[in-house]
Amino acid sequence: MLKAKIDGIQEACLLEINNASDLQQINAIKIKYLGRNGEITAVLKSIKEASVAERPQIGKWVNDAQKLVEGIIADKENSIQEILKQKRTEEETLDVTLSLPQGRSIGALNPLTLIKNDITDIFIRMGFEVKDGPEIEFEYYNFTALNIPKDHPSRNNSDTFYISDNLLLRTQTSAVQVHVMKSQRPPIRIICPGKVYRPDDDATHSPMFQQIEGLVVDTTVTLRDLKSILEEFARLFFSETTKVRFRPSYFPFTEPSVEVDLSCNKCGGAGCNLCKSTGWIELLGAGVVHPNVLEECGIDSSKYKGIAFGIGVERAAMIKYGIHDMRLLFDNDIRILKQFK
Ligand code: PHE
Repeated sequence: MLKAKIDGIQEACLLEINNASDLQQINAIKIKYLGRNGEITAVLKSIKEASVAERPQIGKWVNDAQKLVEGIIADKENSIQEILKQKRTEEETLDVTLSLPQGRSIGALNPLTLIKNDITDIFIRMGFEVKDGPEIEFEYYNFTALNIPKDHPSRNNSDTFYISDNLLLRTQTSAVQVHVMKSQRPPIRIICPGKVYRPDDDATHSPMFQQIEGLVVDTTVTLRDLKSILEEFARLFFSETTKVRFRPSYFPFTEPSVEVDLSCNKCGGAGCNLCKSTGWIELLGAGVVHPNVLEECGIDSSKYKGIAFGIGVERAAMIKYGIHDMRLLFDNDIRILKQFK
């Protein structure tokens, strides 16, 4: 009688497995028959009601039924998996003959790199040689040799990233002037594009930014040469009609020192929000190299004169493109960067 019951359960189970078409249904069947409260399990539990003599026989029936059902479930699971896999492969098939929707999207240089390259190219055409210098610098090259006194505020921790007492992240590419003048005899005509670092961070300042230093040392250079070089640069980089204005300024390493303004590229000098209604935009610092700097580098200041300038690359980009927030250039937002291609 028990055997008939087991056979009945087994038959019902096999029928359900046969009709099942997905893994959820198979799982439900497993629980229904083989689970802790499953029908086959229930028969096994009832074994204790049978006599000791009958138990082995009943145990065998139940075990056989269980094994059979498990085997058939495993087969069914495999065949369902196989069908799913086949379906997925069919769906994922690639048609290599299809043409791409908008062609290939090609990467581009960051606008700051483009600007740096443009500026560098203009000076190369004017006969300047490109030089490089270290970003980790001795305070001697960044300050002392540039005639910057020991108590100058730019040497403070709040204005300079120090690595140790006399090592720092250079705050200006002017440090390269010293390297060049100590290793090369005049005439010198170099530019040095490079990264500089200062502890500033807001819409118009970044802790890392780029400068392009320019230096000319020769027997006859004057402030007038500085002006014509920068006028030529402004004409080629901004526009034919861009004007250059010098305002007196102060840098310890140049005398006289000037702040160089450009007529506003956006309004042409009439006054707008970019130039704060003044018609002029400040672009760079420059001047005639201080005799102390020439002498410190072993150049006879009674024989030679120098002119120098330091262009802010981010500033130049902001002026050229009318950008108010420098961070847009660093954010790597592809929608913004794409506009400068
Ligand atoms: N080094 C100066 C700065 O970072 C710019 C400068 C360069 C001024 C060369 C004069 C001569 O502000």
